[in-house]
Amino acid sequence: MGPGPRRSLGVRKSGVMRRITTDEGPVTVRAATPADVDALVVLRVALLREHPASPIYGRLRRDVEERARALFAQQLEADDEACLIAERGGAPIGCLRVSDTRGSPLLLPARYGYLASAYVVPEARRQGVLRMLVAHALAWCRARGLVEVRLHADATSDDAARAWEALGFTVAEHLRHRVLTE
Ligand SMILES: CC(C)(COP(=O)(O)OP(=O)(O)OC[C@H]1O[C@@H](n2cnc3c(N)ncnc32)[C@H](O)[C@@H]1OP(=O)(O)O)[C@@H](O)C(=O)NCCC(=O)NCCS
Repeated sequence: MGPGPRRSLGVRKSGVMRRITTDEGPVTVRAATPADVDALVVLRVALLREHPASPIYGRLRRDVEERARALFAQQLEADDEACLIAERGGAPIGCLRVSDTRGSPLLLPARYGYLASAYVVPEARRQGVLRMLVAHALAWCRARGLVEVRLHADATSDDAARAWEALGFTVAEHLRHRVLTE
């Protein structure tokens, strides 16, 4: 895959990218509100549907959209998490969820930032959209005094692995599973 279209970066004093400009126009990132629930259902269910080979994410319930709408509406009201949404020309093109998560009481740090639901629509990939979403998520974490960020990544996706490596996330553990049959 090629390096993707050229883009310019607008960087805030805080270090957060204010916007990136791609060949198809500027991309901005903001925290989603309850009014964005339908857009998030589309993006986050599309993410799940992209991993049919995953032993975890490949087993979607038939009523996944309906369940997602109720779950995301609840998440959008929570004050210990945010769902960031990337837009281009007023259209949602990506998302990333970040939450303030409690660690083991035996270990440091006591809390860490947890990233989930990283998704960029296929036509907007390799243009820095995830990079920008992550920059905003890290700023959200820093503002809450968090000093570490973690995430789970689908082991069947090489693209995701390459993206997280490029964004500075190293592998700390593996999730192993075993299906119990009679
Ligand atoms: C993974 C995903 C979110 C990346 O989004 P993106 O907006 O294309 O990522 P970016 O353009 O910000 O890429 C940031 C860096 O990651 C690396 N990268 C991203 N995608 C890559 C790929 N397919 N191959 C190799 N490197 C890649 C590059 O180094 C890139 O920087 P560069 O373009 O300057 O070289 C997107 O491909 C996606 O939504 N995939 C399907 C869903 C998914 O797998 N989500 C992650 C679940 S854990």
